[in-house]
Amino acid sequence: MSAESNTANRPGAIVTSEIRDGVMTIVTDSPPVNALSAQVRAGLLAALRDAEADPAVKGAVIACAGRTFFAGADITEFGRVMAEPTLPQLAGAIEACAKPVVAAIHGTALGGGLELALACHYRIAVPSARLGLPEVKLGLLPGAGGTQRLPRLTGMETALGMIAKGDPVEASEALHCGLVDRLAGEDGLIADAVGFTAEVAALRPLPRASERAVDCDPAVFAAFREANARRFRGFEAPNAIVDLLEASADRPFGEGIAMESRAFEALLAGTQSAAQRHLFFAERAAAKIRDVPPDMPQRTIARVGVIGAGTMGGGIAMAFLSAGFPVTLVDASEEALRKAAATIGGMVDASAAKGRMTGEQARAAMQRLMPTLDFASLADADLIVEAAYEDMTVKKEIFARLDRIARPGAILATNTSFLDIDIIAASISRPADVVGMHFFSPAHVMKLLEVVRGARTAKDVLATVMTLAKRIGKIAVVARVCHGFIGNRMLVPRQIHAEALLMDGATPSQIDAVHVAFGMPMGPFQMADLAGLDIGWHRDPNRIETLRDAFAAQGRWGQKTGAGFYDYDDKRRPHASPVAEALIARFRASSGHVERAISEEEIVVRTLYTMVDEAARILEEGIAQRAGDIDVVWTQGYGWPAYRGGPMFWADTIGLPTIVAGLEKYGLPVAPLLRETAARDGRFNR
Ligand code: 3HC
Repeated sequence: MSAESNTANRPGAIVTSEIRDGVMTIVTDSPPVNALSAQVRAGLLAALRDAEADPAVKGAVIACAGRTFFAGADITEFGRVMAEPTLPQLAGAIEACAKPVVAAIHGTALGGGLELALACHYRIAVPSARLGLPEVKLGLLPGAGGTQRLPRLTGMETALGMIAKGDPVEASEALHCGLVDRLAGEDGLIADAVGFTAEVAALRPLPRASERAVDCDPAVFAAFREANARRFRGFEAPNAIVDLLEASADRPFGEGIAMESRAFEALLAGTQSAAQRHLFFAERAAAKIRDVPPDMPQRTIARVGVIGAGTMGGGIAMAFLSAGFPVTLVDASEEALRKAAATIGGMVDASAAKGRMTGEQARAAMQRLMPTLDFASLADADLIVEAAYEDMTVKKEIFARLDRIARPGAILATNTSFLDIDIIAASISRPADVVGMHFFSPAHVMKLLEVVRGARTAKDVLATVMTLAKRIGKIAVVARVCHGFIGNRMLVPRQIHAEALLMDGATPSQIDAVHVAFGMPMGPFQMADLAGLDIGWHRDPNRIETLRDAFAAQGRWGQKTGAGFYDYDDKRRPHASPVAEALIARFRASSGHVERAISEEEIVVRTLYTMVDEAARILEEGIAQRAGDIDVVWTQGYGWPAYRGGPMFWADTIGLPTIVAGLEKYGLPVAPLLRETAARDGRFNR
């Protein structure tokens, strides 16, 4: 027997319900991801009230149409007054319902979506579902009871990982840890959920997560904080989360919920969450290219070729192999190919050991790798990524060969990090097929991909590469051609000013300490030592024209020789170096610079404000499409702390007039766009 509920089913309603065999199925259909907007929350509460009031209904199922169960609160509503019922109120009403409520989960139950499921009395999920509380990645914490209900269901260890790190779990793991009660058939979720509800309809008392006790060793919290100290450094949300989980173990549920609500509001009002929410939307906006329609027909990419079996080429090959592509890896050296295959084998094994792929997938990935000396075997590749030596002559030669052998329509990409791809494109007969794919090292790990759009790159090539980036798990940002594109171009003023500060009296560790305290993983001199001070060196130890020449001439080439701006111990830990400082002092004196005391403020202005200034020029010249793209490049590619939202968001936060005043104080140039935007009290990110 089937009947319709009387309140929820108005035409066009987002939440509808249906009663079958005494069970009310409440279905939300709010594309794209069923975010829990005010309208959805109101619809759910109305349907729940119907279920409670109708004597013919013995239980209810909450499910979603479309690709996923609720993916969380509607992030676009944050910052406005939350309309009632709020998510915590809705969760409370569900848990308090006198009839059993079952969450039927497919796709991804995330954030507020999972919290809503935790408030249900039972949860059933399809095997492909994933469940998580990723709020920490938005600088937040679960604000609808998640910190108090999850540990009561799963135990503390799982709850710590899921909430403080934001790691989701697969359905099978969720079943194992008590987060879901049953797995449904992949295609029969609603029917299985209705059957399950009928089965448990008469059972009392109803299992309510809030009524369970948390059993855990109090030492677990300090150990967790210590183990993750590096990862959590600078972030406010993870520590607030651990505090709340601690409260769940030793305080009554109601008290824990009140604490959670206060902590959530405090984080929501703070700059860190605003920064991380900005990045969430910026990463998605970056995929959109202003003059390329979303439905642009794309080229088919089934086979990939990679030229160059060095560190970059190997990492790029690994990124494609992991995503299921067959990869032909070409190099002129048999030895390099052998080494690359061994390294890729090691990376694949490590992925399998971490559970990122099964043993079978690992074997299949290695079978898809074809290392070869034969350039002609790239003839059937749909995409060829050149990752050879960073030299225009070498690149042009490779592209000329590709021009002769690549199939018509193949996309010809270069991984160059600085060179002018328009010159490369102009040197062959098919410039429209040429694009830059600038991966970051290690290429199979780093999520950023700068997609460099040449003057003649075809729109369908761009659209194809952007889609492909998503398939291989990358966040792609489009850059136009200039020296260093978006990311590396901004490194240039930073390094120039950092070295100029040494000439004025600062030490490498003084400057690096300011950057590390700011939240960067390392400072400019630690990074220079890592990259190698011999890069670009003319190799004449008697020609000392720059500070770099002075270091290179002494064999202080950075980490690789155990000495550079720092001395390194056998664990590659940097130590301030009296030898390096003496070298700097000598060069300072010989080049006529006078030593003076350098303040932290001066370091910030000359090495961070100057990056903002360069970024403004990048935006002004149209190298980047939007300010948010620059923020994505620096947070995803160079370790700019996410809680500061990227250089442009950070500049907006401290105020553009402050940046302009700082630059002027030290006699530094100000980009016209920066000056204009500051003058009208504007922001880079709107
Ligand atoms: N609120 C509002 N919009 C959202 C959203 C949300 N929670 N989640 C996704 N969207 C939007 C995206 O901005 C995007 O919009 P666009 O098409 O205009 O760019 C669209 O939905 C599709 O998103 P994706 O491109 O990310 O689609 P995918 O299929 O790649 O991924 C997803 C789907 C895994 C659900 C991913 O979108 C995601 O991780 N979403 C965020 C999940 C999350 O963080 N939830 C917690 C929210 S905070 C919360 O719940 C607080 C609570 O505790 C009180």
